[in-house]
Amino acid sequence: MTVAPEVLAGRHVLLVVSGGIAAYKSANLARALLRAGASVQALLTAAAGKFVGPATFEGLTGRHVPLDVFSDTGQVPHIHLAREADVAVFAPTTANLIAKLAVGIADDLVTSTALMLDCPIVVAPAMHTEMWRHAATQANVATLRRRGVRIVGPDDGPLAAGDVGEGRLAEESAIVDAVRAAVGPSDSPLAGRRVIVSAGGTREPIDPVRFVGNRSSGKMGYALAREAARRGGRVDLVAAPNHLDDPVGVRVHHVETAEQMRSVIVSLVDDADVVMKAAAVADFRPAQYSDRKIKKDSGDLAQIKLVENPDILAELGARKAGRVLVGFAAETDLAEDHGREKLRRKGLDLIVVNRVDMADAGFSVDTNRAVLIRADGGRREVPLTTKDRLAGVVCDEVEELLAQR
Ligand code: PMT
Repeated sequence: MTVAPEVLAGRHVLLVVSGGIAAYKSANLARALLRAGASVQALLTAAAGKFVGPATFEGLTGRHVPLDVFSDTGQVPHIHLAREADVAVFAPTTANLIAKLAVGIADDLVTSTALMLDCPIVVAPAMHTEMWRHAATQANVATLRRRGVRIVGPDDGPLAAGDVGEGRLAEESAIVDAVRAAVGPSDSPLAGRRVIVSAGGTREPIDPVRFVGNRSSGKMGYALAREAARRGGRVDLVAAPNHLDDPVGVRVHHVETAEQMRSVIVSLVDDADVVMKAAAVADFRPAQYSDRKIKKDSGDLAQIKLVENPDILAELGARKAGRVLVGFAAETDLAEDHGREKLRRKGLDLIVVNRVDMADAGFSVDTNRAVLIRADGGRREVPLTTKDRLAGVVCDEVEELLAQR
C-alpha cells in the first residue's frame, strides 16, 4: 500500500535562529519540524540569545545547543554540525546574517557552520520593511538565490514597534513546506511503503524476577528502522526491551515477549510491503508463569518446563501476499548452510546471516559482518562494517526486490 511519504521523517534539520523579535516563533518551528519526523539541532546567534534562550531549544529538541566555536573540546562544532545536517533552515534571518551569508563571513559558530554547509539551505528573512527593501539586502538575497538558497517570505503584516509592512517572518507552515521542498521527495522504492522492523531480544518471564532472554541489544533493528525511515518508508518498529532511544519519525511498539511481538506484527502485517526481522525471538518460553518469586530451595527452578514459541517469520512466510520478507540468522558455525535452510523453510526473500561468535559482530556491538542470501540465488558478502552501514546495504537489497515486484 503506497501512502504519501513524509520527506522529513528521519532527516536531520539544522535550525539557525538569529536576533529579531520573530525569534520566539522559532521554538514553534522546531516543534513543527519534530512533528514531521525530523531531528532538529538548534543554533543561536548571540543576538538571538537576547530574545530566546538555548534551554528552550534544548528542552524541545533534546539536543545541546552549542554557543561558540570553542564550546566543545571533544569535537569541532562547526564542522560536525554542518556535516550531520540534511537541510539547514535559517529562521528568522536578520539583514545582518543575510549579508554575512552572502559574503561568506565566518566570525562566530553560526556563520562558520554556514560556510561549511553542503546541504540544501532555506532562509526565512524577518526585519523592518526599510531594511528588507534596502538595495544592499536585496543584492545579498539575490546572491543567495543564485547559489540555490531557497528564500521563504517575508510576509506583509505587523512588525516590531507597532509598524506594519513587508518584513514579517513567513508563516510556520510555509517555512516547513520550504524545508520539505528543499529536501525533495525520496526517489527510493521504499518511499511511502509500509515497513515493519523488529528489534531486540524478547524476554519470556519465569516469575516477577527472572526471565528467559538473550543478548540482543536492538542496535541492528534500530539501524534498519532509521535507514528505512530515512528513505521515506512508513516504519513500524516492534521493539523488545532495550536501552536505545526511539528513532525519530518511526512508530515504535514496545513489547516484551515473543507472543506480544507476534500479536503486534500480525495486527500490522496486512498493510505492510516489507518486513525485516532483526529481533532475536526466544524460541521457547516457560510453560507456566509464577506470579510469586520462586524460592531457590523449592526445586522448581531446576526443572522449568519450556514450551515452543510461535515462529513469527515462518507464519508471515506462509501468508506472504507479495510482500518482501527479510530474516536475520544469528549463527556460530555452518552459518551459510543454516541461513539457506531458514531462508527456504520460512519462505523469505532475503536472509542476513551474521556471526554471533566474534567480538566485532552480532550481539550488542556497533559493528557487524554478514552474508546476504537471496531466494533468487543472489549472494552478497558484507565485511566488517557499522550496523548503520549494513542497514543501508540491506535496504539497497530490499529496494531491488521491491522494484522487481
Ligand atoms: O540486537 P543486536 O545486539 O544489534 O544484535 C543483532 C542480532 C545479532 C540479534 C541480529 O543481527 C540477528 O541476527 N537477529 C536474528 C536473531 C535470531 O533470532 O536468529 P534466528 O536464527 O534464531 O531466527 C531467524 C529469523 O527468524 C530471525 O529473523 C528471527 O527474528 C525470526 N524468528 C525466530 C524465532 C521465532 N520464534 N520467530 C521469529 O520470527
